[in-house]
Amino acid sequence: MPNWLKDAIFYEIYPQSFKDTNNDGIGDINGIIEKLDYVKDLGCNALWINPCYDSPFKDAGYDVRDYKKVAPRYGTNEDLYRLFGEAHNRGIHVLLDLVPGHTSEEHEWFLESKKAQHNAYSDRYVWTNGAFCGIGGHPYIGGEAERDGCYMLNFFKCQPALNYGFLNRTEEWQMAPDHPACIATREALKDIMRFWLDHGCDGFRVDMADSLVKEDDENKSATGKIWKNIREMLDKDYPEAAIVSEWSNPHQALKSGFHADFYLDHHGNGYNTLIRDNETPGGDHSFLKKDGNGDIMRFLLDYLPKYDDTKNDGYISFITCNHDTPRARRTLGYDELKIAWAMFLTLPGVPFIYYGDEIGMRYLDIPTKEGGFGRTGSRTPMQWDNSKNKGFSDANPDTLYLPVDDSDDAPSVEDQAKDSDSLYNEVKRLTALRHKYIDLQADGSFKVVYAEKEQFPFIYRRGNLIIVINPSDKKASATLSEDNCLKVSDNGQAELKSIYSIRGCEINGMSVIADAQSFAVFELC
Ligand code: GLC
Ligand code: CA
Repeated sequence: MPNWLKDAIFYEIYPQSFKDTNNDGIGDINGIIEKLDYVKDLGCNALWINPCYDSPFKDAGYDVRDYKKVAPRYGTNEDLYRLFGEAHNRGIHVLLDLVPGHTSEEHEWFLESKKAQHNAYSDRYVWTNGAFCGIGGHPYIGGEAERDGCYMLNFFKCQPALNYGFLNRTEEWQMAPDHPACIATREALKDIMRFWLDHGCDGFRVDMADSLVKEDDENKSATGKIWKNIREMLDKDYPEAAIVSEWSNPHQALKSGFHADFYLDHHGNGYNTLIRDNETPGGDHSFLKKDGNGDIMRFLLDYLPKYDDTKNDGYISFITCNHDTPRARRTLGYDELKIAWAMFLTLPGVPFIYYGDEIGMRYLDIPTKEGGFGRTGSRTPMQWDNSKNKGFSDANPDTLYLPVDDSDDAPSVEDQAKDSDSLYNEVKRLTALRHKYIDLQADGSFKVVYAEKEQFPFIYRRGNLIIVINPSDKKASATLSEDNCLKVSDNGQAELKSIYSIRGCEINGMSVIADAQSFAVFELC
């Protein structure tokens, strides 16, 4: 386990939309470098940068045309190498995005693979042996290649599936995962990883990490075997490199070698019930929505077994949002976001802040761009200040990659930095708190102290710290039970020192009173 992950707070950067330094309307690597001091000052010490490789951008860069080349619109490989160095000078680690399941249909491997004549890349992708047969329930394309076969898709039409084989084979053209062609795909992936690690990157966020072997068993054992093999390479040659999976199944991902796995917004899962319960019939009962009348047990019943099962294997990553998910500001106000980010920054594992969530950027209802569709509204330019294009770019507003939020009350870093009560300054205080107390970091223990169905507050313990959260718009109280873990001193009373609070919260003996929308951290003395 890379040591630096223990105290890591990640910042996800969508490079298109972060900072444009050459005024062509699109963010660039130099823009990220320019803002490294900002990232550090916010309290983040690690970055995940969405794909910045050469691509036709039919899926915003997740359709990679050349894994080893920075897309010219973002700069050059030298710029990225410089970014690694500048980040390291500031104690910031950098994860790139690795897309192992598919390439762009314009990748050189695929252009070779489509040829009628057999060559070194013929089996790099999943092909049938005839242009007229389907691919057993998977999406595929037929009739587009010289070669007499159909090829499988992994996501959009532009993203043919790389061939890691089939665990349960029913057709002659399906290869076993240990077929030399499938091993060659895995080795090609390792070669790409080595390329960037050798140039100074610190690891990868791995796209659709569970999508490698097809017709895998329900434990994804064959896909897991590939990741274990890759983890062996890392442990041996790059022990400080980290891999974080887009899998959202910590049991499978962390036991397959990932260091951390995202807790993604999947309808009805624990994370979804905290801030994104928008699709449940009968209204939004998100626990962290002030009038949601939520139920913390919906979260805990999903999260606790996952946490207990994997806490010795790796980390579960809470995210404020990501480039695929509607921004939380869509349904939550600044005060609700403060409590939400406070919770995510005081839970175990490795947290991720999506750029702009520290100021509560909005989800914009805008037309699709580069395959974004409903995701596009979460990908708009970072709002730095009140100058042209909110400081993102000096380009003509009509030529920006995506429109900037131009509403009168659009938040900006400049405004919020001046206001000590802003969301931005709350996030800075929270990241500082997490860095100060090892108990709050990735490995600190986690125990529920008070959680009752449809009740507030929610109280949990991290090591020597007690955290009380009342997200509701009503004052809440709790009576702690005799046998709970606060009872530490001889007289049966806990002695507590308040070390952080958003609004008021008191613990007297076994009685807790938490103001509406409050968050507090106490240290057991
Ligand atoms: C992941 C990415 C998403 C992309 C898809 C295909 O889900 O996060 O943005 O479109 O994979 O690569
Ligand atoms: Ca630019």
